[in-house]
Amino acid sequence: MTLLDGKKVSKEIRDNLKEEIKSKHLKIKLAIIWVGNNEASSIYVNNKIKKCENAGIATELYHLDDTVEEEEVLRLIKKLNNDESVTGILVQSPLPKTIDEKKCFDLIAENKDVDGFSSISMGNLCLGNPHNVACTPKGIIRLLEAYNIDLEGLNVCLINRSNIVGKPLFHLLIAKNATVVMCHSKTENLAKITKEADVIISAVGKPHFITEDMVKKGAIVVDVGISRVDGKVIGDVDFDNVSKKASFITPVPGGVGPMTIAMVLDNLVNLAKEKKNG
Ligand code: GUN
Repeated sequence: MTLLDGKKVSKEIRDNLKEEIKSKHLKIKLAIIWVGNNEASSIYVNNKIKKCENAGIATELYHLDDTVEEEEVLRLIKKLNNDESVTGILVQSPLPKTIDEKKCFDLIAENKDVDGFSSISMGNLCLGNPHNVACTPKGIIRLLEAYNIDLEGLNVCLINRSNIVGKPLFHLLIAKNATVVMCHSKTENLAKITKEADVIISAVGKPHFITEDMVKKGAIVVDVGISRVDGKVIGDVDFDNVSKKASFITPVPGGVGPMTIAMVLDNLVNLAKEKKNG
């Protein structure tokens, strides 16, 4: 079994980006809008800020109370769209139910859409012209590439259909010529599908959801789940037992999470270069 070490790979990516930012004299600023006090968001946002600053990317955090009106968030996005000093805008999800997330994502200018969550960025990805690609799906593909895993012809069982993970990842996987079965909470007999899969990608958020008996010997297992049990962060996969059967497996923490953050930096550098080159 080989560990898909997202911590190590993401560090290499961030170090290379830091070098590129320095050598090309790129001036980059990320504006983050975070509404409310979701605990997971707090960890993500803090990590994004820390890793950006370490790589020479400036950050500006707009931490708003969860009672904020939708209109105010939209006004802020418009202001940031028009601010020449801002390279990218990231609206941390989830937003409170009182704010229309899609409206916010769609208002972000295409040349500042770090997350690639807008209808235009998602449409481009779906039509095979990826520009801004969502960071978690992109990070998963980059992690598999780092270990020379060729997805062509492989059967992938993807357990998630969200706009943030499942849908963009589905398109990246089929672009790699994988055969993808997209599963979700209403899928019947999930174990039958996982048992036949060469690759299992689980983003469910339930500890020990993927057990050893659901996994084919030699399968590649990617764990996108994050849960907190007794103060410890754990994934969807029963790692101790599944890792005995898998050929490659991601740990949690230290697998997909750090890759997501590295892709925020990667997308920002791309946007900065596009801006510089007109
Ligand atoms: N919430 C969970 N993952 C993400 C992400 O990649 N970007 C944003 N903006 N919000 C998230």
